[in-house]
Amino acid sequence: MRISVIGCGYLGAVHAASMAELGHDVVGIDVDRSKVEALQRAEAPFYEPGFEDLLGTTLATGRLRFSTDMADAREATVHFLCVGTPQKKGEYAADLRYVDAAIESLLDVLKPGDLVAGKSTVPVGTAARLAELVSGKVPGAMLAWNPEFLREGFAVQDTLHPDRLVYGLPEGPEADTARARLDEVYAAIVTAGTPQVVTDYATAEMVKTAANSFLATKISFINAMAELCEATGADVKLLADAIGHDDRIGRKFLNAGLGFGGGCLPKDIRAFMARAGELGADQALAFLREVDSINMRRRIRMVELAREVCDGSLLGKRIAVLGAAFKPDSDDIRDSPALNVAAQLQLQGAVVRVTDPAAGDNIRTSWPQLDVVDTPEQAAERADAVLLLTEWAQYRELDPVAFGELVTQKRVLDGRNALDRDRWTAAGWTYRALGRRAG
Ligand code: UDX
Repeated sequence: MRISVIGCGYLGAVHAASMAELGHDVVGIDVDRSKVEALQRAEAPFYEPGFEDLLGTTLATGRLRFSTDMADAREATVHFLCVGTPQKKGEYAADLRYVDAAIESLLDVLKPGDLVAGKSTVPVGTAARLAELVSGKVPGAMLAWNPEFLREGFAVQDTLHPDRLVYGLPEGPEADTARARLDEVYAAIVTAGTPQVVTDYATAEMVKTAANSFLATKISFINAMAELCEATGADVKLLADAIGHDDRIGRKFLNAGLGFGGGCLPKDIRAFMARAGELGADQALAFLREVDSINMRRRIRMVELAREVCDGSLLGKRIAVLGAAFKPDSDDIRDSPALNVAAQLQLQGAVVRVTDPAAGDNIRTSWPQLDVVDTPEQAAERADAVLLLTEWAQYRELDPVAFGELVTQKRVLDGRNALDRDRWTAAGWTYRALGRRAG
């Protein structure tokens, strides 16, 4: 099939290469020339395990190319909308300007019979509005909503082997045509037995925001338990293990620590609340405000804990921060809890040195006031405290004995409950973590 993918950020670039991998003829379109040129040279504009290899192999087949010109989408019959929907400045609502701009320019090249498949995370009601624009301008063209659930760090795997396919279809006879077209796009995935959920537009849009709200709630739930553990001397990690054995609850997404960040969970729960307000249903999502507050409180608590271990004052204290990306295996620093804590510590007078295996260049560009070094050893030199804020495997595996020789004070704060407490305490470190007793 001939496919266009509009918007080549995280979602779009991975989707474009994955569709080519499935055997389709794909053009990825983006307004950012430097991004398009990098992709065309088989260079990933972001860190994502496995993506650059996939890009290289699919470009080499000749089935994939990238362009800044929407006219190149003219040949395609299925057009995936993958542009970003960031949080509006100064508001909770999602900013739909990229979606609107993409649709507007796509309408100029759309033909009767074409299918527009929306993947961006949008406020419920957007698909119905866009469908009217599509059929108003190009009678016979259709729109479906086909949300994407990829996780950064697993983006290729999640796109090629999703755990479900959700199709939000138009009403009436077009539904069957749109469904058949999507089944054809995802033929390999459908044949593999992937569950499919076929819905109306509104349900498909809500599936995405509901899923992200549930995940955020699960994380904030365990972090609320961590607050209580801190007040009682209980251990949140053991608590999570114990409740996680109940398969109605499950252990995944019950890792207490600094909480969630990134380009999705924080802005999606806020946009969901804003949209509920517009629909007169704000009470239904009032709990998400608490989910957000619990999450933000963890960052403040981490700074307090650092002050506590530094004998009550951060002024002039040398602090090593291990990890700055919002999660491991990513260079994404959007709303990163780790970076937020690092910046607060620096603003409060600490001498902060940050290191991250992948996000270094992004921090240097976006936060030039932070001192970024290449290795954990450099960060830890003469440190008064070491903070693990993003649980990269290489930090979890550090040797506490050798690492202890670099620092001035053997104090480690485990912001992700990811280190082996016994190993670190056995090597003479004072171990502190969110939701657990001092070790
Ligand atoms: C998320 C959703 O998982 C994905 O389905 C959706 O398509 C996009 O948003 P992503 O933002 O890549 O994906 O990250 P995710 O793995 O969900 O982690 C989000 C944040 O939660 C990270 O900051 C992570 O460190 C934190 N987290 C996760 C916890 O604090 N505890 C946990 O137990 C799990």
